[in-house]
Amino acid sequence: MFTEITEASAAFDSALEAANTAQTLDDLRVHYFGRKGGLIPTLFSRLKEVPKEQKKEVGDALNKLRDRIEAALGEKTARIVAEEASRKETRERLDVTLPARMPRLGHLHPITIARQEMEQIFREMGYSIDQGPEVETDWYNFEALNFTADHPARDTQDTFFLDVPGMLLRTHTSNMQIRGMEATKPPVKIFSAGRVFRRDEITMRRSPMFHQAEGFLVDRGIHIGHLRATLEHFIKRLFGEELQMRMRPSFFPFTEPSAEVDMSCIFCKGAGCGTCSQTGWMEILGCGMIHPQVLRNVDIDPEEWSGFAFGFGLDRAAMLKFDVPNIRTLFENDLRVLGQF
Ligand code: DAH
Repeated sequence: MFTEITEASAAFDSALEAANTAQTLDDLRVHYFGRKGGLIPTLFSRLKEVPKEQKKEVGDALNKLRDRIEAALGEKTARIVAEEASRKETRERLDVTLPARMPRLGHLHPITIARQEMEQIFREMGYSIDQGPEVETDWYNFEALNFTADHPARDTQDTFFLDVPGMLLRTHTSNMQIRGMEATKPPVKIFSAGRVFRRDEITMRRSPMFHQAEGFLVDRGIHIGHLRATLEHFIKRLFGEELQMRMRPSFFPFTEPSAEVDMSCIFCKGAGCGTCSQTGWMEILGCGMIHPQVLRNVDIDPEEWSGFAFGFGLDRAAMLKFDVPNIRTLFENDLRVLGQF
């Protein structure tokens, strides 16, 4: 019996040494103290076989063994359980030093970027930035701008007319000349960009909805030199200082004289390439001195005041600026594409 106790004691030491999880420690506890077949109760039950004179000694040894095992198991179990709990906590702890996952932010549409850049250039020149209605009357879109009754631009092929007589979707932003001059007596200078509509097929370069920008200035003593200087400043700021511009005579009902403006091709800088059909020039806008009749239409005396106006396709300018060959790219709003600007 003594040898068994000594052996059990030694066996316990190595078993305890090896048990390093709460589970294996619990298995040990069952092995030693389990009510059915636990080693300690079994040894105690065999005490009756021990000869009388050894009983006390064996009993003492058994008690000591039981107390030692109980204490050692309890102590190690407490330690391991605490360790496991703290490991779990470390694993699950919120790491506040981790970089935050940023929400995906949107950004401005390329047309908006181009528009804001243009607005800024004119704002710096003292222009007011204005916005006008897309649903317009015949007066503001055509009549007041000196379009004769049979002007081709009035053709139903070009204009979306509404069911309400005299109402239409504006075909250009030139309506803002009339609205601007009506709202503000000269001197006045306004820049206005927005959507316009024409009954066009969708192609690489055309769309029934597109964007234009319009600018105009009315003051005393304004001549075509002011117009040219303003446009040259604008084009150079937007596309690059090295660019040249030229004016070609043209016709618009609301300006006299009228001109079309070319700038040197931004791709070949005037040398001639495929994009500019080897001419070295790109047509960029229409302009002119505001027609005296247009001034009279808004009660401005053309003897006292004169002004210039210009207008251009915003989308085309954005396409050139961002090197986008197809206008649909700007309107389809494919996020994979827009994300690149
Ligand atoms: N409104 C013209 C168009 O849609 C563009 C234009 C030409 C505007 C000459 C102007 C101008 O102000 O003077 O094609």
